[in-house]
Amino acid sequence: MANDRDSRKVRFAAVIAGEAASVPPVWLMRQAGRYIPEYRQLRAKAGSFLDLCLNPELASEATLQPIRRFDFDAAILFADILLIPFALGQELSFAEGEGPRLKPPVAAADLKRFRTRNAVERLQPVFETVARTRSALEPNKALIGFAGAPWTVATYMLAGGPSEDPALLRRRWYDERDFIDELLAILVDATVDYLSMQIEAGADAVQIFDSWASGLPEEALRAVSLEPMRAIAERLKIRRPRTPVILFPKEVGAMAEAYALMGACDAVSIDFCTPWDFARRRLSPHAVVQGGLDPLLVVKGGAAMESAARRLIATFEGVPYIFNLGHGLTPDTPPENVARLVEIVRGG
Ligand code: CP3
Repeated sequence: MANDRDSRKVRFAAVIAGEAASVPPVWLMRQAGRYIPEYRQLRAKAGSFLDLCLNPELASEATLQPIRRFDFDAAILFADILLIPFALGQELSFAEGEGPRLKPPVAAADLKRFRTRNAVERLQPVFETVARTRSALEPNKALIGFAGAPWTVATYMLAGGPSEDPALLRRRWYDERDFIDELLAILVDATVDYLSMQIEAGADAVQIFDSWASGLPEEALRAVSLEPMRAIAERLKIRRPRTPVILFPKEVGAMAEAYALMGACDAVSIDFCTPWDFARRRLSPHAVVQGGLDPLLVVKGGAAMESAARRLIATFEGVPYIFNLGHGLTPDTPPENVARLVEIVRGG
């Protein structure tokens, strides 16, 4: 038992530093959330989702709940990618069953005001959550901080919520390039400050989510996703050279290799459409691979989940790999399937 704990102690840190492990470290995107009853209770107590994100005591509790229940190797900070637009001055709300709303949609005239606002100042409670969580967490567990990638955050800021028509955003980048590029530059700066502060407060690694990177032609993808992510990762490496950076460019196909090739990228998190063999051959030589399992298989559970999880682990045998999903757990996931998944990863 003591040995098991010791070997787990360095598992996440060692693997993200490039060491292969016979048992991969495991954590799951959206591991804190509505699929567990203790979260729903906490959420009801907090009032709104935003109140929960900005209450260090409760947000820290939400971060720790899945660790207690499932013994994951890493905790991910309980917060949201839309806290940056909120801190820049957009009104943020989460209506039940509707997803997030940001009001009003950002316009060119807002940028000057955004430039002068110190976004990070309004997010002090998040850093307090990080500090509290890090001190409550066992030393053998990693704490992952995160932010949205500039493009993904910009899509919400421009549309005032989830984009109904992603083609419209692509069109806007062609039509209003100076405006969009300036918005992305503002978000790069705010994100570097925000993630640096999370690291300073105790985050052991950071992940940048580009959930809306899909469906872009190469030139646009490089300009709105790859280069802003590179700028953030490189600037973080100057400020905090030892903190690993994980990139999640969702559904970018073969372009995932260009992210893995960035010097400042330690790990690439693959979505559930990325072929595993492609990831092993083309990404693993350059960066640690994380993720890949379809979250809907965890809803399904049973033999379908088990055989996919075993094949996924076998694909990355002999190279560093962090077990995770290809996107977040959904609210209808049975918690017992998550427990079983962790058991499978640990050899059960
Ligand atoms: O457990 C964790 O992963 C940590 C916390 C976390 C949340 N959101 C909590 C959350 C993280 C890492 C995120 C990231 C996030 N937020 C992304 C990137 C990853 C992805 O899923 O693509 C995006 C695009 C968002 C924006 C966002 N926040 C949406 C679209 C929604 C509504 C959809 C939904 O699931 O309700 C949220 C709300 C949200 N963020 C919830 C949680 C637990 C649910 C809020 C509630 O309790 O009602």
